[in-house]
Formats: sequence, C-alpha cells, structure tokens
Amino acid sequence: MLILALETSCDETAAAVVEDGVHVRSNVIASSSEAFTRSGGVIPEEAARKQIECVLPVIDQALSQAGIMKQDLDAIAVTRGPGLLGSLLVGTVTARAIGTLWKIPVVGVHHLLGHLSSTWLESDPDDLPVFPLLALTASGGHTELWLRASQTRGQLLGRTRDDAAGEAFDKGAGLLGLPYPGGPSIAAAAESGDPKKFPFPLPLIKEDTLDFSFSGLKTALRYTIRDLNLSPESVMVSKLVLSGVEGSNHDLAASYQHALCAHLSDRLKRALDRHPEIREVHLVGGVSANRLLRLMAAQSCTDRTLRFPKRLSYCTDNAAMIAAAAEFMIQESGIPENDWETEASLPLTSAIQSS
Ligand code: KG4
Ligand code: ZN
Repeated sequence: MLILALETSCDETAAAVVEDGVHVRSNVIASSSEAFTRSGGVIPEEAARKQIECVLPVIDQALSQAGIMKQDLDAIAVTRGPGLLGSLLVGTVTARAIGTLWKIPVVGVHHLLGHLSSTWLESDPDDLPVFPLLALTASGGHTELWLRASQTRGQLLGRTRDDAAGEAFDKGAGLLGLPYPGGPSIAAAAESGDPKKFPFPLPLIKEDTLDFSFSGLKTALRYTIRDLNLSPESVMVSKLVLSGVEGSNHDLAASYQHALCAHLSDRLKRALDRHPEIREVHLVGGVSANRLLRLMAAQSCTDRTLRFPKRLSYCTDNAAMIAAAAEFMIQESGIPENDWETEASLPLTSAIQSS
C-alpha cells in the first residue's frame, strides 16, 4: 500500500509517503522549534498558526518527492492524538478534507503507535522486527515501557509517574541556561563534561516497579546549581560551549544526562530480568536519539537484538512513522471505521488492546 501521512501533534508540520510500512518514499518536515528556542518551550497558538501556513506546501512536497500522484494513494493517515489540540486539528481537518476530495480513506493514528512503528522504517525485508518485543517510548510527553505481542496488542509494564524523559532533558536545559529542545543541547554540553562529577541518585531504586520518575532528578539538579552558587549568567552553558570554555556546567550537563540515561536503562534491565523470553528491544521517541542512552541500553540488553529508528529524523516527530502505523493497523484489522475524533489526551490503550 502507498500511504500519505500527516503529523502535526506538536510544533512540526510533517508529511510523508511510505510504501508497505517500510519504504520511505518521502519524509518532509517543517519545524518551528527554532522559533521557540528563546521561550524554552512551544507556544501552542503560534505553533498552530505556522502549521496552517505550512501544511499544504508540505503535502505537495511529500507527493512530488515521492514521485506519485494523488490517485496512486491507498489511504491517508493522520495523527489524531495525543498532542496540542489546535496543532492536531490542523492535521486532522486537512486530512479529512483531502480524503473527501480525493475519495481516499482517512485513518486516525495514535502518535505513540507511530513512534512504536518507527523501527520498521527502512528495515531490510530479511531483518524485520519480530514480536514479542519490549519497547521503550521516551519522548517529550511520554515515557512508557510496553511488552508488545503484535502491532495492536500488548501490555503496559511501566510509565512515568511525573515528568517524561524528554521533558526532564528540556527542563534541565532550562535550569542550565541551554536552548530548547533540551535533549540535543544537553548532549552537546555533556560531551566535554565529567559524568561522574555530580552523582545524582537513581530514582525509585528501592521499589519493585517498572515505573519511571524524573522530577526528583530535576530538583536535584536545581539544588546542585544553587549549592554551587552558579549565577544565571554562569549557567549559560550555551555561551560557554560556543567559546569552548570548560567548567562545572559541562560536568553538570554530563552528570544529569548520565543519571537520566541510567534510570531509563535500569528499567530496561529490570523488565528483561522479569521477561527473559523477550529477545528483542526497541528504543523509540525523541530521546532514543541520545547516543549515551543507546550505549547504556545496549549494556542492559546483552544477547538481545536492540533496535532504534534507522535515522535520527525517525526518532523525533515525523510523518513516516504515522504512515507505517496506519499500514500495520490496516494489515491486522482492515481499514478502520472513520468514526474517530481528534483528542489532545488519548491513552495508548485506545490503540493497543491488552494481550
Ligand atoms: O518524540 P519527540 O520528537 O516529540 C514528542 O512526541 O514529545 O520528542 C521530543 C523530545 C524533546 O524533549 C527533546 O529534548 C528530546 O526528545 N530529544 C532528545 C534528543 N533529541 C531530542 N533527548 C535526548 N537526547 C537527544 N539527542
Ligand atoms: Zn513524538
């Protein structure tokens, strides 16, 4: 099948054409994240206004880069939630309008089911992922551990009790005076820092749980900055990074990143201890772009196949993953009814049946 997908759940306007859920024929993203570098986060109304301007040109570009015409398409897929309501509506209203005009079915996709499908993109047909598998979704809004039995069946093993992993990177970056999004800027500042300089405690270490908690680490970072008496100017790591100056800021960034990644990989290890039959582990979502996390996860997943998206652009929000998720939904249960709604808070249990 050839599927055109739209993804507009946060600050990006993305369109892609994917064949059979694996072959990415085009993947176009217009992001307004640079506009939010100073505000430290996305301003919802501004994001939606930019998306209204971008959505039709981005679709045109995706179709022309894929070298196809609208009549070649089998379906249109679109993120229906969760996310920022105004942004989501730009995508779903556009998808429904062009679906009606072009007489093509429109499939509403859960954003996280998209992330979970991102490990299939550009996979070699002889080396496709195999169920059952353990999947960690770590993004700006979610941190969940899933035991997946198929594309649409699985069991939620653990989730964050407070902030999401990406949110912890973004808020930590704010405390350190680093630009948004925090993940890449903390990773860059950490490169010349000592990850052992500030040993932050692992969260929930004494509890027998696969849940996550990040707010304590963020508070620990805040207190460490206070105790070091770092003035707001001196925590402007971004300036120091640019001028190549070494200092405790880099050590703070490195230690904080290490603590976040240690917590995430510790949960993977615990989950595999409980489910030794699982032979395959997937890391998805924006935080799966993190190199240290990939290294530490590999240590937790010895003898298992560890997969993450084939490109960094498939880790962060993109439309190709939404097309892949729609393809697999259709393969498992046919074209779904067009009776879905756009929802800002949509639990993944609405898209994955418990197994
Ligand atoms: O999946 P995503 O693009 O959007 C959501 O669905 O939320 O994830 C965005 C999050 C942001 O919090 C960003 O800081 C984080 O992913 N991120 C990273 C890296 N690249 C993006 N976190 C850690 N290391 C990275 N290299
Ligand atoms: Zn996402």
